Amino acid sequence: SKFANGHGNPRDFIAKMKEGKKRLIIFYGSQTGTGEEYAIRIAKEAKTKFGLTSLVCDPEEYDFENLDQVPEDSCVIFVMATYGEGEPTDNAVQLMENLTDSAFEFSNGQHRLEGLKYVVFGLGNRTYEHYNAIARQVDAELTKMGAVRIGERGEGDDDKSMEEDYLEWKDNFWPAFAEALGVEEGQGGDTPDFAVTELESHPPEKVYLGELSARALTKTKGIHDAKNPYASPVKVARELFQVGGDRNCVHVELDIEGSGITYQHGDHVGVWPLNPDAEVDRLLCALGLYSKKDTVINVDSLDPALAKVPFPVPSTYISVLRHYIDISAVAGRQILGVLAKFAPSPEADAFLRNLTSNKDEYAAVVTNGCLKLGEVLQLAAGNDINAHPTPQNTTAWAIPFDIIISSIPRLQPRYYSISSSPKLNPTSVHVTAVVLKYESIANKLTAPRWVHGVGSNFLLNIKHAANDETAAASEEIEHVSLPAYAIEGPRGAHKTEDVYKIPVHVRRSTFRLPTNPKSPVIMVGPGTGVAPFRGFIQERVALARRTIEKNGDDALADWGQISLFYGCRKSTEDFLYKDEWPQYTAELKGKFTMHCAFSREPPYKPDGSKIYVQDLIWDDRKNIADAILNGKGYVYICGDAKAMSKAVEEVLARILGEAKGGSEADGAAEIKLMKERSRLMLDVWS
Ligand code: 2AM
Repeated sequence: SKFANGHGNPRDFIAKMKEGKKRLIIFYGSQTGTGEEYAIRIAKEAKTKFGLTSLVCDPEEYDFENLDQVPEDSCVIFVMATYGEGEPTDNAVQLMENLTDSAFEFSNGQHRLEGLKYVVFGLGNRTYEHYNAIARQVDAELTKMGAVRIGERGEGDDDKSMEEDYLEWKDNFWPAFAEALGVEEGQGGDTPDFAVTELESHPPEKVYLGELSARALTKTKGIHDAKNPYASPVKVARELFQVGGDRNCVHVELDIEGSGITYQHGDHVGVWPLNPDAEVDRLLCALGLYSKKDTVINVDSLDPALAKVPFPVPSTYISVLRHYIDISAVAGRQILGVLAKFAPSPEADAFLRNLTSNKDEYAAVVTNGCLKLGEVLQLAAGNDINAHPTPQNTTAWAIPFDIIISSIPRLQPRYYSISSSPKLNPTSVHVTAVVLKYESIANKLTAPRWVHGVGSNFLLNIKHAANDETAAASEEIEHVSLPAYAIEGPRGAHKTEDVYKIPVHVRRSTFRLPTNPKSPVIMVGPGTGVAPFRGFIQERVALARRTIEKNGDDALADWGQISLFYGCRKSTEDFLYKDEWPQYTAELKGKFTMHCAFSREPPYKPDGSKIYVQDLIWDDRKNIADAILNGKGYVYICGDAKAMSKAVEEVLARILGEAKGGSEADGAAEIKLMKERSRLMLDVWS
């Protein structure tokens, strides 16, 4: 072997397949872990259904020259997420380059993959233009090279129905798979992925109590990223709305001094939240673990290639449920079927089986009712889901904990657009978050209830804690027990010295101002969509100060105009950073104009309907067309991906079409071109 370690090339997946006697190789293109989770689920099903083991691989860790050498009795499965504007995830960039480059030669000396059997499942989001572009591209390229797809290409829509799309696809896929590989169902077994052991005595300082390895955090000096978040002290946490009521919006300043973390305007910050107490207690009770919630447990993977232990161990039952797994999400249909066999009564068993097999019933009860796993178990057993869960009012099920670990996805960080500029705030990252709260839809089992977003609810808890307000005083949130690592400094007598810490990391984005301040800039960000633009304006303010210091008061004369289209309900209610804008306007010497659409105060349109940002854009169409067409201006849209960003793109298309003396379709073509040249950029969410 030409490799120093005496083994084969570690980037050779064919050798690995042969060594491990695996007939399936699954590559996942995954940014936040969802793609990887689906890859693992496919591997697990292949094992339980057919007894076939898989190699689940991060494509970044392998070379693709020998893709042509996959044995005839095997197949390659691609689980590919599409990211941003039709791009591959970071870990799939090289794979995509190899597949699309016709000069790339496989070990057969050609760009051909005759007879290779493959499978594609894509993860995308229908609110974006390039829906599942990467999965479609993989499929097209492989077919072009002579490879043969097994079954249909699967496409999941992250906006609506990822889980249902997957379930529907896989039900049709497995029979085609069995035929293509000549295998039969029933050859596998229901083997657990993990072994959970309760430890009698263990040094407490070695137990992970959900700090995302806080000790490792303090020890690791390395780079802070998604795998190694930084426990950042909360400097400031306050409410942004002038009046309270049914909505909250929090402004949080995270201290990054000395962490080595740097950021740019337009980047995102990932915040690692915690599940609320009620949900943690509910599941502890339903699993019969409440009395031993603090018991130290170890978790071992029974097949490390397939299932990595998703959190640091040893830990405790309560820490796993609070910090590491997503128990606040709507319960999945498939897992309910898995759990039925552990039901405490025939009625509970039938209840779960009905939900699993009857899609409409599942949608009506679980999806519309926004029911979390603990709540479904309680309902199945006839418990009251509205009382605070206790071992007395909640029936205990005999569900092994390893099944909970392997069937519920990991709790993921929540990403927010950073609302500050490092030029004005070099040692802090600002977050602007609306606290998500919506009402579930009534159905035959549950009345409408308030459902809270995990990440923003967590931030609101942090805000209360940091300002020493009691969370109980604010009933609109679900209480979260902040862990010991979140608090530094003495409580009680020295309250002002308390510092709360939350685990964060920065994710780079391409959402950036043009480097030349002469280019006109148009920013559209109603609601919390204004967050990155506060950072953009701060960035320009910092540059203005330096320029004026050097060249005097008129130094901004040749700058392009910066227009911000902002919208909220009322100027007196939810106007974000209302007090800051006048100062920015003054410092930018007339180069910054703010256009505000207050949708729920006069003036209204002649027909009485609301005025939105897109209406103000239309009113300003002369300047906008001039800035874009003559000034080579840049346009940025941030906020709601569906209604708002679509409406803004439409009005821009109309403006550009008209200005060029053509139709809206001509305008739309211009918009497309601007996107390709990164002169129109989106940071939108749904
Ligand atoms: P509304 O709630 O009064 O309808 C921030 O949320 C602002 O965006 C609010 O003023 C909100 O108005 C407005 N908004 C709601 N739907 C919108 C849409 N489709 N396009 C633009 N703005 C919208």
